[in-house]
Amino acid sequence: MARLGIIGAGHVGEIVAYTAALRGGYNEIVFYDINDKRLDGVVSDLQDANRFYPHDTAFIAGTIGDVAKADHIVIASGRIPENAQRRDEFKNNHEDVKDYIPKIMAAGFDGVFVVVTNPCDAIAYAVWKYSGLDASRVIGSGTALDSERSQTILARTYGVSVHSVNSMMLGEHGDSQFLPYSQVTINHVPFDQFLKENHVTADKEAIEESVVYRGHRAFFGKGSTQYGIANTVNDILDAVHFDSKESLQVSALHSGEYGVNDVYVSTPCVIGKNGVEKIITLNLTDEELEKYRKSAETVRSYQTGVE
Ligand SMILES: NC(=O)c1ccc[n+]([C@@H]2O[C@H](COP(=O)([O-])OP(=O)(O)OC[C@H]3O[C@@H](n4cnc5c(N)ncnc54)[C@H](O)[C@@H]3O)[C@@H](O)[C@H]2O)c1
Repeated sequence: MARLGIIGAGHVGEIVAYTAALRGGYNEIVFYDINDKRLDGVVSDLQDANRFYPHDTAFIAGTIGDVAKADHIVIASGRIPENAQRRDEFKNNHEDVKDYIPKIMAAGFDGVFVVVTNPCDAIAYAVWKYSGLDASRVIGSGTALDSERSQTILARTYGVSVHSVNSMMLGEHGDSQFLPYSQVTINHVPFDQFLKENHVTADKEAIEESVVYRGHRAFFGKGSTQYGIANTVNDILDAVHFDSKESLQVSALHSGEYGVNDVYVSTPCVIGKNGVEKIITLNLTDEELEKYRKSAETVRSYQTGVE
């Protein structure tokens, strides 16, 4: 019996659950949300597709105690402020995790948290602090989604398959993230060599910018982002659940990597049953390293008040 817990049955939580059910890794998916009416609607709608999942999957509108019995928990609650400012968003969401994380721990949770709630790096830091768990067991979804976006945008720009692009976004899941071109390959060829061999050019800044603002485009268009994040979160969950040791760009607590300390930011990490099992330090250029450190400082500036 495998149980997935989800805090927050909003746009993200709902599609994370649907994607997990389609992938077939869990028999039970249990939600907790403060909005009972919404929760009931989400659970019954998801349950109505039971016949089409690879295995019978039970969706449960639960309590914090029910969620605490899960193998892994996704944190996807959120109160987005009207001004859409990251700092205020942190204030709201920090208040919430400060309230419910100790309750989840007191109810006996002993798994891995995947934190989606924004600003997800600073909130992952808060979840780590309030859970008392080893930092390896609190994973921020970080730039895993942005990395996938960068692969899609590069693939569409150069007319290649997304599976032939190796690229990533590093740092904050937010405006200060950056695309380290030194790490990009297309068809296994370093990016600059690919451009030269194919007689094409790149507006590197414009590509990077379109990745960074991709989320805003979906959010201001339809009021949420769902499909990319749901699949990214499920990749992280699968790596934990099946102990795959896959490396994914997730937000992890740094202790000296790239000269960064006591802050969650994204770099590729090896993920297995214990959560983040290894933080990979890439061979970045001096300019990229500078961006990485600056991005980490941006995250640090949000996470005030976490005790
Ligand atoms: N990290 C990423 O890549 C990424 C991507 C998309 C969304 N997000 C973030 O995920 C969060 C959720 O986004 P969404 O679009 O689903 O929002 P949403 O408003 O649709 O859903 C949020 C849900 O959280 C519930 N909630 C609020 N406070 C709660 C609490 N204290 N306990 C339990 N439930 C609570 C609400 O009732 C609501 O159902 C937001 O913070 C958003 O910014 C992050």
